[in-house]
Amino acid sequence: MDSISLIKQPITAELEDFRQLFDRSLSSSNSLLSSVITHIRQKNGKMMRPILVLLVAKLHGKVTYQTLHAAVALELLHTASLVHDDVVDESTERRGQLSVNAIFNNKVAVLVGDFLLATSLVHAGQTMNHDIIDVVACLGQDLADGEILQLSNVSNREFSEAIYFDVIRKKTAALFAACTKAAALSAGVGEEQVERARLFGEYIGICFQIKDDIFDYFDSQEIGKPTGNDMLEGKLTLPALYVLNQTQDAWAKEMAVKVKSGTATEQEINRLIEFVKQNGGIDYAVQAMDEYRDKALDVLAALPDSDVKTALISYLNYVVDRNK
Ligand code: IPE
Ligand code: IPE
Ligand code: MG
Ligand code: MG
Repeated sequence: MDSISLIKQPITAELEDFRQLFDRSLSSSNSLLSSVITHIRQKNGKMMRPILVLLVAKLHGKVTYQTLHAAVALELLHTASLVHDDVVDESTERRGQLSVNAIFNNKVAVLVGDFLLATSLVHAGQTMNHDIIDVVACLGQDLADGEILQLSNVSNREFSEAIYFDVIRKKTAALFAACTKAAALSAGVGEEQVERARLFGEYIGICFQIKDDIFDYFDSQEIGKPTGNDMLEGKLTLPALYVLNQTQDAWAKEMAVKVKSGTATEQEINRLIEFVKQNGGIDYAVQAMDEYRDKALDVLAALPDSDVKTALISYLNYVVDRNK
């Protein structure tokens, strides 16, 4: 069995319930909105977040009505953030097809993203669980905060790993942490277990974004979105930050400043990418990712063995080993 089937095995029936609720959540009589929704629904993505919600809820008991609505709320918020992200990043490809902004336009993408965000809140409300509603609402703040922090970090001259981790904790890990926290809340466990679940999600999310940032250094059709974009957007991610803080090479430092000011040419960017690769940037990022994988494994270690725990370990391995 491949790793994804192994991960989904303990939640096959619950995932079907999720799919039905998710599909029902997105319909509209407005023809423009409905055609954008049809476009988005053509490709589901990897569904990493709902799978995590369902597994963690099952780990703590069982998947309930609250769990399913929380999973729908969080996947919708994720989808909204991707639709908006492609506008902000001026990116034309998502999930192996044209992005919403590319096939329609920026105005449509902003407005439909808002609709998805609002629909996410409707589902959070339907959990009737105040703590879960709180998780989703605060998450919306964190995601926006992370993106704004990233934006304001583009133009300065700092090569800071601390800022990098702050950004990815907010823009990506907060979503995974919200998934595991909401899942534990939906299962009705105590505060300590909820916090442990939240931390587990945060560690997974950090691994997930470091992996995504490593993807950007390599060409691949499989990923379904453009690579090589980060430096074009003025973003220096972990592999480059490490190398820039180690090297004495004046050319590399000068190039990095040009990247951040948006004045580096494509050729200069390609040379800087090669420089980062040749100076151990990727190895360093992989090592950092593996450290967070181990922290996440440590959180799980205290729990008794079960098929759900095994699936969560496979999930974690998939996050760090995946090709898309
Ligand atoms: C993309 O997330 C956004 C990042 C946090 C890098 P995914 O890679 O999980 O996106 P889909 O849902 O599978 O398309
Ligand atoms: C991650 O941002 C996606 C969000 C948190 C919205 P990126 O811009 O790094 O992700 P991709 O590479 O476009 O998916
Ligand atoms: Mg972005
Ligand atoms: Mg992007």
